[in-house]
Amino acid sequence: MFPSINPTTTQAWAKLTQHYAQIKDSHLKDAFAQDPQRFKTFSVTFENILLDYSKNRITQETRQLLVDLAQECGLPAAIEAMFSGEEINFTESRSVLHVALRNQANTPVLVDGKDVMPEVNRVLAQVEKFSTAVVNGEWKGYTGQPIDTIVNIGIGGSDLGPVMVTEALKAYQKPNITTYFVSNVDGTHIAETLKKINPETTLFMVASKTFTTQETMTNAHSARSWFLEHAQDEEHIKKHFVALSTNASAVAEFGIDTQNMFAFWDWVGGRYSLWSAIGLSIACTVGYENFRELLAGAHAMDNHFRKAPLEENLPVLLGLLGIWYNNFFDAQSHALLPYDQYMHRFAAYFQQGDMESNGKYVDRNGQKVNYQTGPIIWGEPGTNGQHAFYQLIHQGTKLIPCDFLAPAISHNPIGDHHPKLMANFFAQTEALMNGKTEAEVVEEMQNSGTSEEEINSLKAFKVFEGNRPTNSILFKQLDPRTLGSLLAMYEHKIFVQGVIWNVYSFDQWGVELGKQLAKQILPELTSATEVTGHDASTNGLINQFKAFRK
Ligand code: F6P
Repeated sequence: MFPSINPTTTQAWAKLTQHYAQIKDSHLKDAFAQDPQRFKTFSVTFENILLDYSKNRITQETRQLLVDLAQECGLPAAIEAMFSGEEINFTESRSVLHVALRNQANTPVLVDGKDVMPEVNRVLAQVEKFSTAVVNGEWKGYTGQPIDTIVNIGIGGSDLGPVMVTEALKAYQKPNITTYFVSNVDGTHIAETLKKINPETTLFMVASKTFTTQETMTNAHSARSWFLEHAQDEEHIKKHFVALSTNASAVAEFGIDTQNMFAFWDWVGGRYSLWSAIGLSIACTVGYENFRELLAGAHAMDNHFRKAPLEENLPVLLGLLGIWYNNFFDAQSHALLPYDQYMHRFAAYFQQGDMESNGKYVDRNGQKVNYQTGPIIWGEPGTNGQHAFYQLIHQGTKLIPCDFLAPAISHNPIGDHHPKLMANFFAQTEALMNGKTEAEVVEEMQNSGTSEEEINSLKAFKVFEGNRPTNSILFKQLDPRTLGSLLAMYEHKIFVQGVIWNVYSFDQWGVELGKQLAKQILPELTSATEVTGHDASTNGLINQFKAFRK
């Protein structure tokens, strides 16, 4: 097992603290002016992906000290521990092996001395056979018609990954298949979906690692009832319901034939599960060949993460830069800004990936941390974000490091849309870095004929400090392989940060309390008596809710 170290006690941390004091006031614009090689020094490529991290408030010394920090915190040993199947999810006594799901090299991966690859390959073959039958129209519904609609019912990791990937790969979607996702326990979500679909040609995928999640089971039961109202015969369920789960007995109890169950294992974390049977909706939407390419891209990034030197390692660099801002510049959040409409759920996906992983205040020794851990992850696609929240990134009081992501080649090369989109990408990162000085503002206003008086009253508002850090992640095209690599890159970034912050990144105890309380409150919402067992606010809300419904 790798060491459990409070990062603030390392030598590198002390040096970074001093170094921060020295460079915190220096401006990126000056760094570029002084060093024409800066782009070369601070950029790295992996296959068709370029990471330009030169617009960060760093020097070569910063990078070296951050790498030293990673070394002192035992990152290389931690990486090996994950890949070799150690139980690094300590609080749940589990290995963390989403990397095995995409291990295209098929080298043995041992859990408790047993190679998991034969089982991984068995389920992949099952996914291939099934998705091919669906896409080819060979899988027929109860009236003999081919399936043309998929409804994935799941939440959290059993929803966000497949939603994000099927949206990101829409250009690869099979024309005969339409896919919907139902996650919210709000009946509106399933009701509005059921209005659009035909029971005779719809396949429901009940996606739940535990097969106990309240939202998913409620939606699945509603879908089942709706289906039976039409099909009349429980025998037909096997043609229209499949389960993606680790829990065979709960699947059988629900009434799904375990022949129609696609298994995965407790060493796959929910938020890392799109590579597993949870990806069945992806395989049925874009075809198994594209699902495999997605896995291959992730596997290639896994190899890079495992083998590349830390200072050239994309996930490591992203993780270390995040720590630099989070812990030394006190940045509270990190924005993911894809300049690709297909990636519109990318930030939402990594909101769970990152915040459920590193949103922890207890370290791996069970102690409360005395430093900041996971940032708030958020973002929307460009250019929409520019007309919404970029004002605050440019001129607000908070430092918000941003990742800009974009493909060089669009799947929809209509007119000059893509050059315009990319001009905005480049302009934004340049503007965030350079800002605009008072002298530039004054000159611009003079050139446009503005009076001295007006210049004096307005110039302060038009100045941009700049010096706002960004990463630019430019890739050739958003294809399945590239998407797989990008996703694995961010997954491993989260891992790097969790190791250095010394937290357990693969449990999520914080989500449990709300679930427990919701279970207790549910019967109270229909009881005849006044509710008095909670605090005054919760009692008041529940009682008013009941009064409104009388
Ligand atoms: O939100 C908590 C959580 O446990 C996530 O980690 C998980 O992705 C989600 O619920 C869904 O869980 P399941 O796949 O077991 O239904």
